[in-house]
Amino acid sequence: MGRLDQKIAVITGAATGIGEATAKLFASEGATVICADIKEEKLNQTVENILEDGGQAEACHVDVSSEESVTAFADKLKKQYGTIDVLFNNAGVDEQGGKVHEYPVELFDRIMAVDLRGTFLCSKFLIPLMLEKGGSIINNASMSGSAADLDRSGYNAAKGGIINFTKGMAIDYARSGIRVNSLSPGTIETPLIDELVGSKQENMGEKFREANKWITPLGRLGRPEEMATVALFLASDDSSYVTGEDIKADGGIMAYTWPGKMLIEDEEWKKGTK
Ligand SMILES: NC(=O)c1ccc[n+]([C@@H]2O[C@H](COP(=O)([O-])OP(=O)(O)OC[C@H]3O[C@@H](n4cnc5c(N)ncnc54)[C@H](O)[C@@H]3O)[C@@H](O)[C@H]2O)c1
Repeated sequence: MGRLDQKIAVITGAATGIGEATAKLFASEGATVICADIKEEKLNQTVENILEDGGQAEACHVDVSSEESVTAFADKLKKQYGTIDVLFNNAGVDEQGGKVHEYPVELFDRIMAVDLRGTFLCSKFLIPLMLEKGGSIINNASMSGSAADLDRSGYNAAKGGIINFTKGMAIDYARSGIRVNSLSPGTIETPLIDELVGSKQENMGEKFREANKWITPLGRLGRPEEMATVALFLASDDSSYVTGEDIKADGGIMAYTWPGKMLIEDEEWKKGTK
C-alpha cells in the first residue's frame, strides 16, 4: 500500500529539480500526479518517466504567475477530477539582483510574481477543490525566507512572505481539514542552483560547492530526492497533526552560527577520516 493511494496530487514546477523528484516519489506512493510547469518538453519527460514506471501522471502547461492560466487549470481539474487532495506549490525562480538601490524593479516583480503571487494564485483557485474532503498544501519556501542572502532581496522577500502566508492559510483552513505547511530547503543540486552559482563543471560552481561544505554541518549540498521525502511526509497522513509549520531541510545550516570553532578547523573531517 502506498502512502498516497487514491490521492490526486498537484505539483507546480514539476518539470525539473525538486518538483520532478517529488512527482516521481508521489506517483510511486500511489498518487495520480498532476504535473504543472511552463517548460513543456521537460514536463512531458517527467510524466513519461512516471508512466513508464507504472505510475499515474498528467502534464499541464500552467504559468503560476498568471491568473488566467491558473483559473483555466483549476477549471480543468474540477471538470476532470472534481476534487484534489494535495497541492505542492513548488514553482519558483531565483536570480542575483544586487543591493536594493541597484536591484532591477523588473526582477523584483518577476520573482514576486512567480514565487509569492504564484503560491497565492494556485492556493486561491485550487483550495475550492479541497474544501469537500480536506487535504494538504505544501509551499516550497527556502532557508532564504528565514535568513538573508547577499544581493537577493527579492527572493528573500518572496520566500519570507511564503513562510508567513503558510501560517495564515493554516489557521484559515484548519477547521476545513486542510493542513498547510512550508518546506524550507537549504542548497539543493538542481538546475536553479546551476543557474545561480554555476554548474559543477564550471569554475565558480565548483568553488561554491567547495565553500558550501564548510558552512553546511552535513558537509554537502542536498539532493532533490531528499526534499521529496519531506514533501511526502507533509502530504501524507504521517503528518496529520502538523500544520502552520516551516520544516527546514538544509543539512543543518540554519542551526549553525559563528564565531567559535569553525567547521573548516575540523582537520579530521577535512581529511575525510571522519
Ligand atoms: N535548489 C535549491 O537550492 C533551493 C533552495 C531553496 C528553495 N528552493 C525552491 O525550490 C523550488 C523548486 O526549485 P528547484 O531548485 O527544483 O529549481 P528548478 O529550476 O529545477 O525548478 C523550478 C521549476 O519551476 C518552474 N517554473 C518557473 N516559473 C514558472 C511559472 N511561472 N509557472 C510554472 N512553473 C514555473 C521551472 O520551469 C522549473 O521546472 C523553488 O520554489 C525554489 O525557490 C530551491
